[in-house]
Formats: sequence, structure tokens, C-alpha cells
Amino acid sequence: MTPLFYASRITGTGSAFPERRLTNNDLAQTIETNDEWIRERTGICERRISDLTQTSERNSSLGFLASQRALEMAGKTPEDIDAIFYGTCSPDTLVPSTACWLQMKLGAKKAWAVDLNAACSSFVFGLSMADQYIRTGQIKTALVVGSEVLSSIINWQDRSTSILFGDGGGAVVVERTPAESPRRILSSHLKSDGQLWELFYIQAGGSNQPVTPEIAGKNLDKMMMKGKEIFKVAVKSLADYAIEAIEANGLKIQDVDWMIPHQANLRIIEAVARRLDFPMERVLVNIDRYGNTSSATVPTALDEAVRDGRIQPGHTLLFDVFGAGLTYGSLLLRW
Ligand code: UT7
Repeated sequence: MTPLFYASRITGTGSAFPERRLTNNDLAQTIETNDEWIRERTGICERRISDLTQTSERNSSLGFLASQRALEMAGKTPEDIDAIFYGTCSPDTLVPSTACWLQMKLGAKKAWAVDLNAACSSFVFGLSMADQYIRTGQIKTALVVGSEVLSSIINWQDRSTSILFGDGGGAVVVERTPAESPRRILSSHLKSDGQLWELFYIQAGGSNQPVTPEIAGKNLDKMMMKGKEIFKVAVKSLADYAIEAIEANGLKIQDVDWMIPHQANLRIIEAVARRLDFPMERVLVNIDRYGNTSSATVPTALDEAVRDGRIQPGHTLLFDVFGAGLTYGSLLLRW
């Protein structure tokens, strides 16, 4: 194998959310649920929902704001970006990609831009890909985005899913650094298991089953989930992939300063922390305020902790995700 001369590191983070807050009590006005049940079973208190009559709250608009903030922190301009990796499962349009909408809005003229969909794992998959392109010297600077307008694919009559999700976007700037730089992405570990597709899917809306008024009336173009089954797989896979990442680097879980898991359910996060014997005080959580924002959970939780100073240079961070597909991934980095 050719020796690698480069590594990559995150130099800027940003996030953006729609204005409108939807509380548990708001949801209880339209479906049979209540604040206590949602808080106890999921840890969610409220989520943000895009007003799609406003162009400013579309997926690429949230991605745009988050990217601008990340570029500002990194001290970079849109012209510096070589590639955009846009993780999403709720794109503005199927064609063109949301990545291309963002490229246009930013004026990132030299960047090639691509969407990728590993559901809730998309951001970590995109970050891993950006890392590979940078390490091989093909690009110098990448923008990696995880952004969703999940409210557009929620069945609002289904209380087992509609209480869980929210809208939001996060972005990071990733730059080339010397291979032996102490501050860099250390490793990433990705996996997919299509056998488990039935645990979480959208039946219609692709070429399998185009949307007709009848299909839309039955909400077959919205998310369907087997919550209990996913819960069990999630706890085991998040723990397994955390261990894989730390062992690949000859580290112990105690060496991790901050774990940033996918925010699907606070009980999943707590169960993983227990399994790993990792203190919850060092797990970054934002599900209480934003719900599950799919590919946006990790970059938005990261951005929050970078900006409020919890994350400091030299800290070891563990990203740990799972999503529909199913997909799994972990990524270890030194900040
Ligand atoms: O990133 C995407 C991946 N998705 C996930 O990771 C989701 C993983 N799963 C979960 O987070 C949980 O399974 C849920 C939050 C979806 C459900 O929690 P649960 O503890 O597994 O509840 P359950 O489905 O076993 O339901 C328990 C009870 C049932 O009533 P009975 O049969 O015990 O009388 C449900 O009908 O709670 C009832 N229930 C509700 N009650 C009030 C289900 N949903 C609700 C609700 N409000 N929204």
C-alpha cells in the first residue's frame, strides 16, 4: 500500500434549526400521547419543525446556514471547498441533489458535490469518505453536512414515530493536515446490513412504488419503524462499534473524553453508556431539545459542545451511529 502523507481534521463546525418549536404538549393536541410518556420513554421535550412555505427553512437552507457558520469558524471561504458530502434522507429534491443546491447557494464554484444516504448514519459515512479523499491527497478541503427536514416524511397520525423526529442541520469543514498530526481523524468503521431493511423504511416514493393520491392517503410514503426491534439492535451495535473504534487505536474507553452518539432515544444512549461503563456526564446529548434529527444529530451536538467550550484541543471524541438500512458506524478523532 502507498504510504499516506496526509490526515484530515475538523477545523470548523456549524448548525442551524428552524424557528418553530413543537412541544410534547402540542403533539398531544392531535394524537393520543402525553408529555410524561414521551419524556420518560424517549428523553425528548421538544423538536423543531420547518415551515416549508419559507425557502429559508428547506433542507439545503439549513445546510447552507450550518455550512456558513462552519466556514466562518474555520476561516475558510466557499471557494476553498474541493468537495461537498451531503448526508440526508429527506432531500430538497431527488434530482438535483441537495448537495448541488447547497453548492449553488454557497457559490462553492470549484467543489464537486454529492448526496449520500445512510439514513441516520449519513454524516459519519460522509465524514469517513471526506477523510479518505483527503488522506490520499485528492482533495484538500471538504464540507461534510448532515441535514434533514424529516417533518416532510413523518406520518403525523402515527404516535410511535411522529413523536420522535425533528428538523435541523449540521456541518463541518474538514482540512488536510500532516499524517502524523496529533489533531486528526484517527479511524472510521462503517457497516451496513440490508437484511434488516424492514426495521425502518419508507415503502413508496421510489421507483418500487411511485406515489399516487391513494398511496399518499395511506401514508405509505412516510417513515415506518419497528421501534422495539431497532432499540435492541441499536444498543448492541452502538456498544460494539464504540469498542471497535477504540481497540483499533489501542485505546480504552476511559481514554475517550466525549462520546457523541446518534440521538434516537435517550434510553438507548443510557443503555450504551452502561454497557461501556462510560459516564453519562461525558456523553453529548441534544435529543431533549431537538428530537431525532437523523444525520444531523452528531454534527449539531458536536457544534454545540465546541462553541460552549466543553470540547477542547487534544480531547478524544468518539462518534457512534446507527440508522435505517440498517447502517452502523463509529469514528474516533483527536480534536
Ligand atoms: O434513528 C431511527 C431509529 N429509531 C429508533 O432508534 C427508535 C427505537 N425505538 C424506540 O425509541 C422505542 O421503541 C419507542 C420510543 C419507539 C417506543 O418505546 P417503547 O418503550 O418501545 O414503547 P412500546 O412501543 O413498547 O409501547 C409501550 C406502550 C404501548 O401500550 P401498551 O401496549 O403497553 O398498552 C404503546 O401503545 O406505550 C404505548 N405508546 C404510547 N403511549 C403514549 C406507544 N407510543 C406512545 C405514545 N404516547 N407516543
